Amino acid sequence: MTDINEIAKKMVAPGKGILAADESSGTIKKRFDSINVESTEDNRMNYRRILFETEEAMKNYISGVILFDETIRQSNKEGKKLVDIISEAGSLPGIKVDMGAKELAMMSGETVTEGLDGLRERLEEYSSLGAKFAKWRAVIAISDEIPSPLCIDTNSHALARYSALCQEAGIVPIVEPEVLMDGSHSIERCYEVTKNTLTKVFDDLVKHKVDLTGICLKPNMVIDGKDSSKKSSPEEIANMTVNCFKETVPSEVPGIVFLSGGQSEVEATENLNAINKIEGTPWNLSFSYGRALQASALQAWQGLQENEEECSKAFSHRAKMNSLATKGMWTKDQEN
Ligand code: 13P
Repeated sequence: MTDINEIAKKMVAPGKGILAADESSGTIKKRFDSINVESTEDNRMNYRRILFETEEAMKNYISGVILFDETIRQSNKEGKKLVDIISEAGSLPGIKVDMGAKELAMMSGETVTEGLDGLRERLEEYSSLGAKFAKWRAVIAISDEIPSPLCIDTNSHALARYSALCQEAGIVPIVEPEVLMDGSHSIERCYEVTKNTLTKVFDDLVKHKVDLTGICLKPNMVIDGKDSSKKSSPEEIANMTVNCFKETVPSEVPGIVFLSGGQSEVEATENLNAINKIEGTPWNLSFSYGRALQASALQAWQGLQENEEECSKAFSHRAKMNSLATKGMWTKDQEN
């Protein structure tokens, strides 16, 4: 059996991070709508294979790629499997296995992530298709009334069951409890909710016998709500984020890879950089960005073959900036 600890370490290899390219059919349609490109199976394959064929980014900065069910089965026009393109670049293919956040019954405005039924069999298949790690995203929203303890408990329980099933299949679980940026809440409120959530998640992981050396945590940064009147500095965000993890994340967890969650590309890089300037943290702190790695690449592409090179360049640039940020070596002037 593959050593999950070795895979987890590879996912957070120094200077590298993860590309989240696992947008569901609905989400990728939204992204394509923004550039007036129709979301056909062919267009989705074509856009994603441009990213995966970008050797500079994939070889140097991207340790793994999270795929959607459709993508893990796709091949490029020459018949080469997208999974093989990723592996040959020295990167690990992974797979989103949750079935999405659905309304939590009787709990207005809250969701529970579904997808546990039949997961053991699906993981077996994904493993045979080349997946080395998986992702499950739980969503925790903030308002004056929520999250309820029930929402945190239910999502945390599902994350733990998912993680145990992954490890049983020799697959590293990315454990993603996302506390949303939506709303006008303060950074302090985000800290409190993130702390409560992570505390519960790690309690449940241990209860479900999950080996903490064989997971990657994918959390939000501790940050002001999107509509908050205050905007904390990258240093404030970094300090609050690392302090929150010190209170909740066991040191044997090999890596923490952030989601970008609606931050702009440069914001997500700048904040990651500030986080990595803090010394003495026990975990590797890197990225697993979707929007913050792809926004300018998508804009550059516009669905046109003649823009492929510009699309690749934009992706390489973002991957490189974030790689620098994992070492605390990014500066604004490197953006140009
Ligand atoms: P964003 O970085 O766009 O938040 O996406 C990361 C992700 O995989 C969310 O599940």
